Amino acid sequence: MQESYTDALNNPIFKIISDAAEELSVDCYVIGGFVRDYFLKRNIPKDIDVVVIGSGIKLAEKVASKLEGKPQVSVFKNFGTAMIKSDGIELEFVGARKESYQRDSRKPIVEDGTLEDDQKRRDFTINALALSLNKSNYGALLDPFGGIADLESKIIKTPLEPGITYSDDPLRMMRAIRFATQLDFQIALPSLQAITENKDRLKIVSNERILDELHKIMLCKKPSLGFSLLHKTELLELILPELTALQGIEEIEGQKHKDNFWHTLEVVDNISEATDDLWLRWAALLHDIGKAPTKRFHKKIGWTFHGHEFVGSKMVYKLFKRLRMPLNEKMKFVQKMVLMSSRPIILSEDYVTDSAVRRLVFDAGDNVEDLMTLCEADITTKNPKKQRKYHQNFKIVRQKIEEVEARDHVRNFQPPISGEEIMETFSLKPSKEIGIIKEAIKEAILEGEIPNEYKAAQDFMYLKGAELGLQSTK
Ligand code: CTP
Repeated sequence: MQESYTDALNNPIFKIISDAAEELSVDCYVIGGFVRDYFLKRNIPKDIDVVVIGSGIKLAEKVASKLEGKPQVSVFKNFGTAMIKSDGIELEFVGARKESYQRDSRKPIVEDGTLEDDQKRRDFTINALALSLNKSNYGALLDPFGGIADLESKIIKTPLEPGITYSDDPLRMMRAIRFATQLDFQIALPSLQAITENKDRLKIVSNERILDELHKIMLCKKPSLGFSLLHKTELLELILPELTALQGIEEIEGQKHKDNFWHTLEVVDNISEATDDLWLRWAALLHDIGKAPTKRFHKKIGWTFHGHEFVGSKMVYKLFKRLRMPLNEKMKFVQKMVLMSSRPIILSEDYVTDSAVRRLVFDAGDNVEDLMTLCEADITTKNPKKQRKYHQNFKIVRQKIEEVEARDHVRNFQPPISGEEIMETFSLKPSKEIGIIKEAIKEAILEGEIPNEYKAAQDFMYLKGAELGLQSTK
């Protein structure tokens, strides 16, 4: 006997669709994410997919004519789909299809099909669940591929042999990993193997769609789940080779360095507990990418990664460009975070001086809190004593940042004495002395020799001018 889930279909829109379908004498079903999320008790999505055994476009037009305000129907003839926006909901209607794909393209050859044909061509069993909107069995669940059982056992599985499903639409390889990460599900073993076997087909997927999935993975509670699956299936090497290059531990003369790939994933998870900011999470993901090209072994000091922050920040640009990510202020933010990623760590390992904190605030500007969040996330030591010490020192750094800010206002530093005033004071024409005096004032403030105030800076200017042999003419 088919179980009925009429409560899932509480929204009056479903009754309207049901009436419209009856008038046209076609069968139709709600399918996909809506049904999955209903059974998972997740937030029900605002986009609802309806599959019609017949013309999706005709049913959409009929539904629109019954809705208040008669919303517009957007028709995508090539795909045989139609979309209506009503009351904050996006309804998509599609005719049930049988599809087969060519090897070098995502464009399918489409024929009309039954509901089961349509369910079979979908990505995962959990996305192939359908609820009937037909009068004869309204609310009945149609689950020919065991989607409910897979939801219960938390498994991502394809309705067809996985090689076919992934080869048909290689974006699904990314989707499998994204759903596994979002829902904390396992990918069935044959599916995982099929992803690795089909990984090169990712080439035919646009960067935009890959990035979209990657961003969804990054925004999960525990992104490392997704990145380790991407790694395991060898997709990561194709998307972010800079990251996989960090994997491995080398040992020379008994000296080892840590595995910077797994360390990075820990940092991304840590930062994800502290922030939902996608770009700060990107900064965590990329903060050590400069370590692969800068790695050296020195007999006396062991492993070094000199300048990895600088090299890493340059790599950020190339990586964003390759993935066609925006080369805008978001990228600059990630670069800045990567470039400065070791600064607070040096502070936390040592005695924290005011002047070091002032310099940090001066250089990081408004991003200083984000930088601190990144650095705290970077603490992955398993030594509890060290862990406590670093966290404690970061607390001190944060306190000092507040104190220094309240007192010295160096965050968005504006020099208290302008170049013009220096020129007027010493009757100078544009010359290098002006720069020297300005820099000396800035340094004196950052070092804490003078407060960030006009009078103190003016006195310091006279002093510095005298040192340079300049006469005040004021
Ligand atoms: N689908 C598919 N293959 C894809 C994309 C989508 O088979 N590459 C099918 C699935 O049945 C999916 C439905 O189309 O459930 C709707 O797709 P989409 O809106 O992209 O995903 P949702 O499942 O709704 O989930 P989310 O909104 O989280 O992406």
